[in-house]
Amino acid sequence: MTVTIVGAQLGDEGKGGIVDVYGDAADVVVRYQGGDNAGHTVVHEGEEYKLSLVPSGAVRGKTGVLGNGCVVNPTTLFDELDTLRERGLDPDVRVAERAHVIMPYHRVLDGIEEDAKDDLAAGTTGRGIGPTYEDKAGRRGVRVGDLLDPDVLRDRLEYAVPHKRSLVENFGADPDADRFEGAFDVDELFEEYRALGERLADEEMTVDAGAFLQSHLDRDENVMFEGAQGTSIDIDHGIYPYVTSSNPTAGAAAVGSGVGPTVVGQGEVVGIVKGYLSRVGTGPLPTELGHVEGQTPPEGGDTSETGQALATYIRDEGGEYGTVTGRPRRVGWLDIPMLRHAARVNGFTGLAVNHVDVLAGLDEVKVGHSYTLDGEETTTMPATTEKWGRCEANLRTFDGWPEFDAEQVAQEGYDALPENARTYLEYVSDELDVPIYCVGVGPGREQTVVVEDVWT
Ligand code: GDP
Ligand code: IMO
Ligand code: MG
Repeated sequence: MTVTIVGAQLGDEGKGGIVDVYGDAADVVVRYQGGDNAGHTVVHEGEEYKLSLVPSGAVRGKTGVLGNGCVVNPTTLFDELDTLRERGLDPDVRVAERAHVIMPYHRVLDGIEEDAKDDLAAGTTGRGIGPTYEDKAGRRGVRVGDLLDPDVLRDRLEYAVPHKRSLVENFGADPDADRFEGAFDVDELFEEYRALGERLADEEMTVDAGAFLQSHLDRDENVMFEGAQGTSIDIDHGIYPYVTSSNPTAGAAAVGSGVGPTVVGQGEVVGIVKGYLSRVGTGPLPTELGHVEGQTPPEGGDTSETGQALATYIRDEGGEYGTVTGRPRRVGWLDIPMLRHAARVNGFTGLAVNHVDVLAGLDEVKVGHSYTLDGEETTTMPATTEKWGRCEANLRTFDGWPEFDAEQVAQEGYDALPENARTYLEYVSDELDVPIYCVGVGPGREQTVVVEDVWT
């Protein structure tokens, strides 16, 4: 069977941790979209692993697949594999031949375009994600399979590179400038990427992802789909244009891996929810507390003394600093209209609510229960980001809960959680009409209250 893990908010909900919690019974863990813009943390026995491309199941020794829907930077992939090997793991990762390759020029263009965009910039991770998906849609991409065939690789580069050079020139830069380190030179790119292709071939890493997964499913094995990013930064269902360039939502698990939607739909789809909101990047955020310079819009955030103090408390307690970029994350109260939207788009069968420990110790915990938009109350996210920016959150207040011993609670089970925390969780579950499958009370596997075993 399959289990699909999807971020319900804006990324960094703790997806890596939940993949790890449920990963023991998985045989294969598959990423179906995104690339090394992801930063997924797994904490086990005090060891912390931050994974960008390698699926989180690697910590438990599971086979990982980067599906055709991913964009793969082979250099960062090999660096990550080498680092994990140095740390004593033995990751077995396969890469879809249909996945697109992030080339050096994509990273350069990501930076140039972000600078030029000004107010429309999403605050990208600078990994070249958007430009690579653009080339995929523009049918001028380089795919992983092309790296293994030198003639095809050269053909692809000879078509794509002049196109990229003229783009850079349009931005007023010289593609041959030293600072671009040969990113726009066909011969240099050809040599470097042909060698990366040889390494992929030598290590027998490339596969037809759909066929590979089907062979595992035919043996009644368990496949877990590990979504990256989150529903509200999905290119179709998120806060466009402050989004990533792929579909983190559950439907993409099929398209991005090469199995049918019925395969994904017959399994579980678990929405990963952070007990409050965090955001790295720009755009509106109706329940935002405090204000992060360079990310919060000029009028955004609760900048009262209490708002600022709560933001600092939550950011520090939750360690809300970007895994990939180290930037301070914007924080806010849980946004229920955002979650109602996510539950419908993804068809969640269960929820994992993380970071319940971070909120412990507050006198009151609030949620945005609904919005007021142009004088009317609304209970889900509007379809345009401009309307979302005009939404005012109608807050609902819950009594806080005290600090508790996370490992003891995780061992004893759900009923050992403080009563007010359970009231909060049950409110979320009722509003979304989706059961709680597990509750994160700390970063580690041993600090997760498992209510439901997803594999039975
Ligand atoms: P992902 O991108 O969704 O996998 O999440 P990240 O790894 O980027 O960010 C989540 C952060 O919160 C990591 O540092 C995790 O170790 C940590 N974390 C995950 N679940 C919990 C939890 O329930 N409580 C606390 N305190 N930290 C958590
Ligand atoms: P994980 O998988 C949080 C955000 C960036 C930016 C926007 C576009 O760890 O949850 P991109 O580099 O993808 O073109 O940037 O998306 N973003 C993330 N935010 N978690 C992530 O991944 C993210 N990946 C991208 O901050 O606003
Ligand atoms: Mg992350």
